[in-house]
Amino acid sequence: MIFTVAIDGPAAAGKGTIGRAVAQRFGFRHLDTGLLYRAVGALVLEGAEPIAAAQALKPEALEKPSLRTSAVGQAASEVAVIPEVRAALLEFQRAFARSEGGAVLDGRDIGTVICPEAEVKLFVTASAERRAERRHAELLGRGFESDPAEVLAEVRARDARDSARDVAPLVPAADGVTLDTSDIGAEEAVARAVALVEGKL
Ligand code: C5P
Repeated sequence: MIFTVAIDGPAAAGKGTIGRAVAQRFGFRHLDTGLLYRAVGALVLEGAEPIAAAQALKPEALEKPSLRTSAVGQAASEVAVIPEVRAALLEFQRAFARSEGGAVLDGRDIGTVICPEAEVKLFVTASAERRAERRHAELLGRGFESDPAEVLAEVRARDARDSARDVAPLVPAADGVTLDTSDIGAEEAVARAVALVEGKL
């Protein structure tokens, strides 16, 4: 069975939590596509050239825990504006989306560019303040240092860059469903996403 769930939205809106839970519930594979851009961003911070780094990216590069830092997130959103970087990462994501047994991909352009034919398209969003609070708590939980005001400024900077870029900007797919998680908990958000998938299976 081929079945794709596309989950898009800004940083720290809950895409990852929802994506993992939906994948587990239905036995689908899950890909956090932000990790691809983070892996390229991390290599660029080490001195690599972005396009070459994206073209030569190895699956092992997605496993590094250090990909979660704010510095790597910023570097990721900088390399993500380069069309050749996006092009180099496209086929891997498309092939993953057509995995036998079903797949969930979360990112910024899954429902609009990578997988416009996805069976379920979800746009997960929340206010910048709520997302910054969550990202701050997540960073502390992972043992990183974090400053709430800095995290909020970074969330806003990343939103602006992701939404304003010419190639694959962060926009909801016209035929998708928007889920605002500002005032609902993770459990409720997951339940709504699961119900949506169930309705299409
Ligand atoms: O989701 P995450 O915060 O890990 O993504 C890091 C950056 O990678 C985003 O800010 C965005 O610029 C970029 N990205 C993208 N397209 C995707 C996933 C992530 O441009 N599908």
